[in-house]
This record gives sequence, structure tokens and C-alpha cells, in this order.
Amino acid sequence: MTSVLRSVVTGVGSYLPDRVVTNADLSKVVDTSDQWIRERTGIQERRKAAPDQAASDLAVAAATRALAAAGRTPADVDLIVVATTTPDLTFPATAAIVQRKLGCPVGVAFDVQAVCSGFVYALSVADGFVGRGRSKCALVIGAETMTRLMDWTDRGTCVLFGDGAGAVVLEPRVGEGSTADRGLLGFALRADGAKQDLLYVDGGVSSNGQIGHLRMQGNQVFRHAVVNISEAIHAAADDAGIAVDSVDWFIPHQANQRILEGVARRVGIDEAKVISTVAQHANTSAASIPLALDAGVRDGRVKPGQLLLLEAMGGGLTWGACVLRL
Ligand code: UT7
Repeated sequence: MTSVLRSVVTGVGSYLPDRVVTNADLSKVVDTSDQWIRERTGIQERRKAAPDQAASDLAVAAATRALAAAGRTPADVDLIVVATTTPDLTFPATAAIVQRKLGCPVGVAFDVQAVCSGFVYALSVADGFVGRGRSKCALVIGAETMTRLMDWTDRGTCVLFGDGAGAVVLEPRVGEGSTADRGLLGFALRADGAKQDLLYVDGGVSSNGQIGHLRMQGNQVFRHAVVNISEAIHAAADDAGIAVDSVDWFIPHQANQRILEGVARRVGIDEAKVISTVAQHANTSAASIPLALDAGVRDGRVKPGQLLLLEAMGGGLTWGACVLRL
């Protein structure tokens, strides 16, 4: 065994806006029904940020809870990575806005844009700092106001998404280089830009100057999701040196209950090990994994020392998986 620096999750937190939007509420906006949404997606309700709440506000609330859980204060934070596809402004990065609002000292702050895979990508990027001793206390945040990207006449997308944020604190700890170490143990990140048309937003600064709306060929994304995610899960498990069925908890991106179950079945993970929050949160893009992780930690299921498998897929297409010991 050789001693290695590991990026260890020392605190988890999340935040959901107060306003609940039920399937029944949406059936007054578009031609849909509670039954269709529940049967096809598992979603029962989602949260919607107040008009004066930006992604950074959700991020600050989640980060404050994560810092408290870690026993840290904003003064300790030297790195902030925000995964978001719905930034407050074109620039500065939402991470820099979070830094200002939290009152963190001068450090490193930037955003990662990998849509729904953003949190897994951001963990990997932050590991490059923390795991090399270049950050002593990092905040990795997924924060989204996806409802702002909806076309409220498109029933195929507007019922699927919600707003929220989740955050983790990462700190370096010396491990012995085995899979018993706490910390981020393995990753597999993927992107296939050739599949852009399956899921994208039809607006942007340098194209048409619009914010745009989310466009998705849902059933095609669904097909890609199960196959591609399964490959990335096996690759991340290989990278970590663990067997997929040895994980204690599977904490997937929360897009659709049928995808969660399909992936778990395909990679041989017991259904009882799947943390699912899609019914209450819907798809909160980069925020969905840390929101689900925090739900599991706060209700006592997910405990320190346990082996976790995270995975996500989203626009790009991007996808990826991460193995960590909490
Ligand atoms: O986080 C990024 C990754 N995104 C995803 O993972 C999403 C992946 N895709 C999905 O979750 C599913 O494909 C959906 C939930 C989006 C759709 O479910 P589906 O079983 O693939 O349905 P479909 O798109 O094939 O549509 C089936 C029918 C269509 O009607 P026709 O053409 O059969 O008459 C749709 O028009 O369902 C209709 N439909 C709806 N009906 C009532 C689509 N949306 C709705 C709706 N309410 N909200």
C-alpha cells in the first residue's frame, strides 16, 4: 500500500425552492395528466424557483448546509466549482457569484457546463485540485433553474424538469491507496457531440442572442441513456477497482424512474440500493445527484464509509459515472 491523497466528501447539503408544482397543476397548462406523467416518468411534483431566485441563490443555500455538515465556514473555502446549465449571467461564472454571496476569500471559482452530467464532471475536475493538494476545502455544487428553459407549450418536456441545488464539501485526506479509502475512487466521463440534436437548448449568446428553450427527442435519449450509462458505470468501477454489485448505494441522475430501474437492472444492482428522488424533484439537471445524495444522507440511509456509485446523462450528449467512498 502506498499513501495517496484522496478527495473526501466531508459534508453534503441541498436546497429546494418553496413552490411545489404538481402534475395536476401542469395539466392546466398543457394537454397532459397526472397518470401519464407518473406512469411514464415516476414524477409526481417538482419545485419552481421564485422569480427573484437565481441559480446562485439556490447554490448558496445548498452550500451553506454542506459547509455546516462539514464543520467548515465560507472562510475555509478556496475552490468553488458550480455545475450549471442555467447560470445567473453569461458572465461572471455562477461560482464567482456564489463566492461573493457566501463571503469566501479570494480563491478559485468557475463553472462546469456538462448539462445533466455536470455534477459528475465537476467532481472529477475538483478532484484534480483537491487530490493534488491544491485545494484544502472545495465546494462542488450543482444548481439549476431548469423551469426557466421550458417551452410551456411542449408537453413532451415541460413536465419533466424542476429547480434545486445540491452541494458537497471536498477535503484532502491521506489514504492508503486501497478501495477501503474514503474519497473519490474512480471516474468515467463521456461526450458524443454528434448526438447534439437529441437534447439541446435552441438559444445562445453567439448564435441567436436568445435564452432559448429546451428541445428533446425524449424516446431517443431514453434509448441511449440505458446503454451508454451502463458502459460508463462498468468503466468507473474498473477505474476504482471495485465490482459494481459491491456498492452500498446507487445514486443516479434523476430523469426518469424507468431509466433508473433499467440501468440498475442492466448492471446488476439490487433495486433496494437505488436512491430515487425523481417523484418529488423531477429532473433538476446537474443538481439532481447531490439532491438525491443529501436526501439519502439526511434520512439516515447513506452513511459515512459506504461505497457509492453516481451516474448521469444529459445534453451533449454527455454522460459519466463516479465511484466514491463517503
Ligand atoms: O436529463 C437528461 C436526460 N433526459 C432523459 O433522460 C429523458 C429521457 N426520455 C424520457 O424520459 C421519456 O422518453 C419521456 C418521458 C420524455 C417520454 O416517454 P416515452 O415513453 O418515451 O414517450 P414518447 O416520447 O414516445 O411519447 C409517447 C406518447 C406520444 O403520443 P403519440 O405520438 O403516441 O400519440 C406523445 O405525444 O406520449 C405523448 N406525450 C404525452 N402525453 C401526455 C408526450 N408527453 C406527454 C405528456 N402528457 N406530458
